[in-house]
Amino acid sequence: MIPRNDPCWCGSGKKYKKCHEAFDRKIAELKKHGEKVPSRKLIKTEEDLKWIREAAKINNGALDLVASKIKAGMTTDEVNELVHNYTIEHGGTPASLGYEGFPKSCCISINDQICHGIPDDTVLEDGDIVNVDCTTIYHGHYADASRMFCIGEVSEEAKRLVDVTKECMEAGIAAVKPWGHLGDIGAVIQEIAHKNGYSVVRDYCGHGVGNDFHEDPYVMHVGIKDTGMILAPGMVFTIEPMINQGVATLFIDADNDWTSYTDDGKLSAQWENTIAVNDDGVEIIAW
Ligand code: MF3
Ligand code: CO
Ligand code: CO
Repeated sequence: MIPRNDPCWCGSGKKYKKCHEAFDRKIAELKKHGEKVPSRKLIKTEEDLKWIREAAKINNGALDLVASKIKAGMTTDEVNELVHNYTIEHGGTPASLGYEGFPKSCCISINDQICHGIPDDTVLEDGDIVNVDCTTIYHGHYADASRMFCIGEVSEEAKRLVDVTKECMEAGIAAVKPWGHLGDIGAVIQEIAHKNGYSVVRDYCGHGVGNDFHEDPYVMHVGIKDTGMILAPGMVFTIEPMINQGVATLFIDADNDWTSYTDDGKLSAQWENTIAVNDDGVEIIAW
C-alpha cells in the first residue's frame, strides 16, 4: 500500500491518490475475480509514451519514405539502405540491426516469405507483394510497424490477401478496449481470416513494446473473446497478424536461420502497428 499523498509508482510526480490509486483498486478487484492482470512493469509512464511517440515519428517517416520509393527493379538492400539512412539522419537507431545477430536494419519479406526476410541483392519484381518491417529506437524507446507494398500490377488474389490482412490488423486494433481482454484481438483476427479462406500464423505473435523491443504480453492472432490478460490503460503492444493463403505452417531458411516461408509456397501477408491502451480506447502510435 502506498500512502495516498505519496508520489505515484508510475513516476508521474502526481500524488498516488490523484494518479494510479483507482487503477490499482480496479486491478485488485479484477484479480480477486480470477482475471489475469498485467504487472506494473507493463504499464508505461507518460515519459515512456512521449519517447515511444518520438521513436514512432521516425519509424513512420522511414516507412513513408519506403512507400514513396519502392518499385520494381530495386533490390531489397536498396530499400534497407533507405530505412537505415533515414533512421540515422533523424537521430534514431534501427532496432533490427544486430538484434540477436540479425544483419540488416529492417526485415523485407516477399511473397511466400512470412517474416524476417533479410535484405540482400534480391530484385523486386512486378507482381510481388512485399512486407517491410521497421523498428526504431529513440532515447531508449522502441516503435515497431510494418506495411505491405504491391509492386506494379499484382494478381487479384494477392491484392485480396494484402487487403484482408490489413482488415485483420485494423479489426484487431478496434477490438482493444480498456479493461477488455487480450483474447478479443485474436478472436476477431481469426474470424476475418477464416471467413476469407485464409489461415493465421501461430508461430509468431505481436508483443509488448516500448521500453524494449519485445516485452510481455504475447499478442496472439488467434484467440477466444473475453479470455486472456486484461488490457489496462498504459499498456503498449504491437498487433501484427501474418495471414496465409494456404496452410499456416512454416519452415525456416536453413542458411540464415531467420527467414520463415509458408510450408506450401503460397503467399503470406502481414501488417503491424504499435498501439497504446488509454482510458478512453486506443491510440495508434506506429503504423
Ligand atoms: N520487427 C519484428 C517484429 O515485429 C522483429 C524483427 S527481429 C529482427 O517483432 F531481428 F528480425 F529484425
Ligand atoms: Co513486432
Ligand atoms: Co516489426
